[in-house]
Amino acid sequence: MNRFPLIQRYSIFVDLPEHSRLITLSEGYTPLIPLPHIANHLGGSFHLYAKYEGLNPTGSFKDRGMTAAISEAVGRGAQTVICASTGNTAASAAAYASRAGQKAVVLIPEGKVAAGKLAGAVAYGAQVIQIAGSFDDALRMVVQISERHPIALVNSLNPYRLEGQKTAAFEICDELGKAPDWLCLPVGNAGNITAYWMGFKQYHEYKATGFPHILGVQAAGSAPLVLGHPIDHPETIATAIRIGRPARGEQALQAAEESGGKIIAVSDQQILEMQRALASEGVWVEPASAAGLAGLADEIQKGKFDPKGKCIVAVCTGHGLKDPDIIAKSMPAPQRIPAEIDALEDLILG
Ligand code: F0G
Repeated sequence: MNRFPLIQRYSIFVDLPEHSRLITLSEGYTPLIPLPHIANHLGGSFHLYAKYEGLNPTGSFKDRGMTAAISEAVGRGAQTVICASTGNTAASAAAYASRAGQKAVVLIPEGKVAAGKLAGAVAYGAQVIQIAGSFDDALRMVVQISERHPIALVNSLNPYRLEGQKTAAFEICDELGKAPDWLCLPVGNAGNITAYWMGFKQYHEYKATGFPHILGVQAAGSAPLVLGHPIDHPETIATAIRIGRPARGEQALQAAEESGGKIIAVSDQQILEMQRALASEGVWVEPASAAGLAGLADEIQKGKFDPKGKCIVAVCTGHGLKDPDIIAKSMPAPQRIPAEIDALEDLILG
């Protein structure tokens, strides 16, 4: 199959300057995986899919935005790019910058970045800097330094990140033939919810694909958009969305409102339960990635939402391999036996 790079595939919708020079790792084209067991468990008689963004080249949806941001930055001659990150943006920026021959500098909050993400950023050759502070502190610092020096900011404050991330909405419409009734997704810095809403609106203008209601989901300990104020010390096991001052918070609230959806919060326990439920359907995601679907389940189970007859897409933003420690911690040690067939038979048959 001839797979055009995303920003060529959707070139008429993705607004990048002339000077951009394409940097791609064949991102996108991620599957919509049906989730019949979870749908059944939630009462059945609706269509539920995971948009499995963990299958992007660096294991998260960030690659859609990064192909666009790095293509623009390298085209205008930027030699260094910088971002603040809870991990996935860092790994993605590192990979695309490397590919473009740029230096990547990534700032991460101390001690809270999952092993698979940190390893990725290091493997792709980024300069990784831990700061004694939160993601929000790191974001403030990278914004400041990019204003003072010719260093390109590739957080989702960079508009080209959203241009790339919109493509996920286009793919969903292309595969379903229209927008789903509901889209649920985790919300951290709020770039992705903003990009999806832009994407659905734009595609509808050209293709009359309709609009989903958007359910944005935060972790209860890091839910500034639900509480209505910033949080100085956000906490959650879903470290990807451990963010107290979302850069695109206003736009996220607007996306939820305009779409007739909402932003809610779920507990860490609900997130981990949904991570297990997804894994039992063969879709292993990192904790934050289960939050959207955990929110949907919460709404249905509390009787606030009737999914009957609906088509619902849950965006699963990152691969489970990104955060293996979460599983490893709760995992029983493997059973150990002598390397003999009798011992194996005894164990599994009897
Ligand atoms: N899911 C995952 C796996 C993420 O890594 C992120 C954000 C989100 C959801 C939330 O997306 O920020 O656009 O609302 N991760 C950023 C990072 C903050 O640095 O990797 P958002």
